[in-house]
Amino acid sequence: MANRMILNETSYFGPGAISHIVEEVQKRGFKKALLVTDKDLIKFGVATKVSALLEKAGLAYEIFDDVVPNPTIAIVKNGVDVFKRSEADYLIAVGGGSPQDTAKAIGIIINNPEYADVRSLEGVAPTKKASVPMIAIPTTAGTAAEVTINYVITDEENRRKFVCVDPHDIPVIAIVDSEMMASMPASLKAATGIDALTHAIEGYTTKGAWELTDMMHLKSIEIIARALRASVEGDPTGVEDMALAQYIAGMGFSNVGLGLVHGMAHPLGAFYDTPHGVANAILLPHIMAYNADFTGEKFRQVAIAMGVENVAGMSISQAREAAINAVKQLSKDVGIPARLRDVGMKEADVDALAEAAFADVCTGGNPRDTNIEDIKGLYRSIY
Ligand SMILES: NC(=O)c1ccc[n+]([C@@H]2O[C@H](COP(=O)([O-])OP(=O)(O)OC[C@H]3O[C@@H](n4cnc5c(N)ncnc54)[C@H](O)[C@@H]3O)[C@@H](O)[C@H]2O)c1
Ligand SMILES: [Fe+2]
Repeated sequence: MANRMILNETSYFGPGAISHIVEEVQKRGFKKALLVTDKDLIKFGVATKVSALLEKAGLAYEIFDDVVPNPTIAIVKNGVDVFKRSEADYLIAVGGGSPQDTAKAIGIIINNPEYADVRSLEGVAPTKKASVPMIAIPTTAGTAAEVTINYVITDEENRRKFVCVDPHDIPVIAIVDSEMMASMPASLKAATGIDALTHAIEGYTTKGAWELTDMMHLKSIEIIARALRASVEGDPTGVEDMALAQYIAGMGFSNVGLGLVHGMAHPLGAFYDTPHGVANAILLPHIMAYNADFTGEKFRQVAIAMGVENVAGMSISQAREAAINAVKQLSKDVGIPARLRDVGMKEADVDALAEAAFADVCTGGNPRDTNIEDIKGLYRSIY
C-alpha cells in the first residue's frame, strides 16, 4: 500500500509573516477576496491586520464575519450566498478552526454546487473540483486547519458535528504568524494548545501512522511540552513555538487520521457547545489509559518527547503511565478542568453521546477497536 501526503503548496512562518499575503495575491493574479472571520477577531483588531494590508496594496476584498465557534450548516450556506454576491475569486480565512473550516466548506460548495446541502459532504465526499483557492491564516495555535484536508461542521438540526475529509479543500497558502495569535486569552491558548497535543498523540498512535508522520508527531509533542506553559503565561517565544508545533502536528494527522478522543469530543461540541480544545483536553489522558495496551512502545516515545527523565530504563507499563501522567500534569498546569461535568455534560445524554462518538469518522483510527458500551463507560467514568 502506498502512503499519501497532502500539504500546502506554500507556507510562511514567523512573526510578521502575514506581510507576504500581498505578493502572493499579486503573483497569482487573484482579483477579489472574501475574507472569512468572526466578529470578535474584527473587534480585537486581529482580522483587520490582514484587511489593512490588502487595503494599503489596493487589493479588493469583502468581509464575511458571521462565523461562530462550532460553525453550523446555516452559516456555511449564508457564506456561500455572500461569496456568490461578492464576485470574489478567492478566500482568505482569518481565525481559529471555526472560520477556517467555514471557508473550506464555502470554497468546496462554490466549485461543487451539487453539495450545496452541506450535509452530503460528511466523511470522504467524492467532490470533482478543487476548492476556490484559499489563503489560511490561523489565529489560534491548535487545530492546524490551515494545513489539514479536514473541516468540521455542526448540523444544528440533528445536534451533531460532522467531519469532512477532502483533499480538494487544502488551502493553497498557509501563513502561520504568531503575532496573529498573541491576543488569545490564556484559557484559549491552553485549550487550543492541548488540541494540538491531542492531534500529535492521536496522530502518532492512530492505525494509519507511519514513519514520516511519526517524525512530525514526535517533534510536535516535544515542542508543545516545552512551549505551552510559556505561551499560556504570555511569553512571545512560547506563542511562536506553539504556532509551529500545531502546524507540524497538522502536517501529520491530516494525512493519517486521529482516534477516539476526537470521536468523543465532537458530540460534546454539538450537544453543549463545549470548546473543542477543552473537550479534547479532558478526554485525552483517560483515552490514553484505555488505549495504552494497544500502542506498543509508542507511549515510551511520547514520555521521552514530553521530557520525562529515565524513561529508557522503565518497564513498558511504567513508561505508559509516565506518558499519561505527563499529559495530565501539563493540562493541570495550564488550567484545564478535569471532569466532563465541569463543561456541562449531562449524564442522561450518555447513550446519545456514545452513539454519535462511535459513528464519528475519527473513531475508526483509534489504535484499540472500540464499541458503544465501552464508550458509554468512558463518558460515565470521566463525567
Ligand atoms: N479542520 C481541522 O482539521 C480541525 C481540527 C481540529 C478542530 N477543528 C474544529 O475547529 C473548531 C475550533 O477551532 P479553535 O479551537 O481554533 O477556535 P474557534 O475558531 O472556534 O475560536 C474560538 C474563540 O476564540 C476567539 N479567537 C480566535 N483567535 C483569537 C485571537 N487571536 N485572539 C482572541 N480571540 C481569538 C474566536 O473569536 C472565538 O470566539 C472546532 O469546530 C473544531 O471541531 C478543525
Ligand atoms: Fe482537534
